Parts: sequence; C-alpha cells; structure tokens
Amino acid sequence: MMKKLLISALSALVLSTGAVAASEAGGVKDFAFSFEGPFGRFDQQQLRRGFQVYREVCSACHGLKFVPIRSLADEGGPQMDPQWVRDYAAELDPIVDADTQEERPRKDTDFFPTRTGDGMGPDLSLMAKARAGFHGPYGTGINQLFNGIGGPEYIHALLNGFTGADKEEAGNTFYENHIFSTGWIKMPPPLSDDIVTYEDGTPATVEQMSEDVATFLMWTAEPKMMARKDMGFTAVLMLGLLTVLLYLTNKRIWAPHKGKH
Ligand code: HEC
Repeated sequence: MMKKLLISALSALVLSTGAVAASEAGGVKDFAFSFEGPFGRFDQQQLRRGFQVYREVCSACHGLKFVPIRSLADEGGPQMDPQWVRDYAAELDPIVDADTQEERPRKDTDFFPTRTGDGMGPDLSLMAKARAGFHGPYGTGINQLFNGIGGPEYIHALLNGFTGADKEEAGNTFYENHIFSTGWIKMPPPLSDDIVTYEDGTPATVEQMSEDVATFLMWTAEPKMMARKDMGFTAVLMLGLLTVLLYLTNKRIWAPHKGKH
C-alpha cells in the first residue's frame, strides 16, 4: 500500500514538472539557470559578469533604487571587495542627503541611483519578479520549485528577441521584439557582441551577456535566495528527524497496552 502510494506520488511529481517544463509563455522558453531548483545556487562569477553588464550597459537607462550598494559585497552575492564597493559608490551620481538637504557623494550605504526622464527605462530592482511567468500546474508551485519563476527567462528572451526592425511613431522610435507584450519596445537593442570585456575571459556574446545580466537581476530581486533555500532544507531535515522521534515515542508509549502476537 505504502509502496503504491509512493510510486504514484513520485510519478505525479515527475509528470507534472516534465509537462510544464515543455510549456512556454509567449515565446519565453524555460532555461536552466544555476540558481533554480531546491538546491540551486547563484554562481558568483556569473553574478560578477552580470553586474558588469548592468554597470557598463543597462545602468545608462535603468536604475536599481531598491538595491543598497553595499550589498554587492555581501556573501551569496557578487561579493565584490568592500573597498572596491566604496570607491564605486563614490563614482555614481551624487545624492541629496536626507538630513542636510545638500548634495554629497554617494556612499556604499546608499541605494543605487534611479533613472528618470526621456528615453529612460523602468527600475530593474524587482523586474525579475515582476515578470515572473511560470506558475505551477493549478497553482501548486511545484513548477516554480524546480524550474524557477520565469522572470530571468523573460529578461534573457527579451534581450535576445530583437528582430532588427524599427519604426517611428508619434516622434518615438520603436524596435520590433516579439517577446515584449506589444511586439514593439521603446528600448533600442542594448547588447551586441563584445560590448563588454569580461575579466574572467568568458566570451561576451549577446547570449552569454543576457544570461549573466538576467542572473544578476534575479539576485537584485531576491538577494537572500540561497539563505532561504538553506533554511528550507534545514527545516525539512529537522521535521524529518522529529517525525522519526515522534514515531518511536508513540510506539514506546503504547507498547505496554498492545497485546503480544
Ligand atoms: C538606451 C536606454 C536603455 C538601455 C541602455 C537599456 N534599456 Fe532596457 N529599457 C529602456 C526603455 C526606454 C524601456 C521601456 C520600453 C517600453 O516600455 O517600451 C526599457 C525596458 C526594459 C525592460 C522591461 C520590459 C518590460 O517587459 O516591460 C527590461 C527587462 C529591460 N529594459 C532590461 C534591460 C537590460 C537588462 C539592459 C542592459 C543589458 C537594458 N535594459 C538597457 C531603455 C534602455
């Protein structure tokens, strides 16, 4: 009986994840990022590469107003050198101090600058979550557990989705991109091969850079993901242990009252 139950539960799990992995939402295909799955981890080198793409390309038009600059040095993130982070903060746009109302250089304890105005794009801090696309079959969340939420997949697909066509409309230029909801986006294709030079020698193809920057943006949206997964794993382990102990205790308590067969 137990065995049968176990087999059907397992096959349901395998079937449901398999079926949904094959599905795609509006041309966004699933992609096996290193941080997905119950034991997924961010790849530190990839986070550093993604941050470099953000810093050198995307930050011209997109802010990260919910991300504290000092978190770049945190464990589980790109883990940049703290002194480097302080120097980097000082190079960013100055900030109007909340206490003195005077402009001063940005510190690592401040947030990333915002970008507003003509031609600027939306803030990217939480974009990887705002564009989450994959939900579990019937909302069970099983698919998210194994394949992630789909937001990074969307960003990756968007950056690779330009067809090269553009059009003028009411004084704006729109670029054809089938991944974007309306098919025409106001963002010019931001990436081209070798637009950045990676310090670790990874070839900077559009494919590679979009994968890296999507990973970095998943980290900005959920910087404590690895800690959360570790905590979840520990909790499951402890609950498992508790189950065994309770089972044994229960047996022991009732042993005198059960007849010997
Ligand atoms: C020249 C300015 C510019 C640069 C550089 C730029 N973007 Fe954009 N981006 C925009 C604009 C403008 C929009 C809003 C487009 C619209 O609503 O039509 C946008 C929108 C977006 C969106 C949201 C799409 C959606 O579904 O709403 C994402 C994600 C994005 N950009 C990612 C990036 C990434 C990642 C980079 C760096 C590789 C980047 N952008 C570089 C201008 C830029």
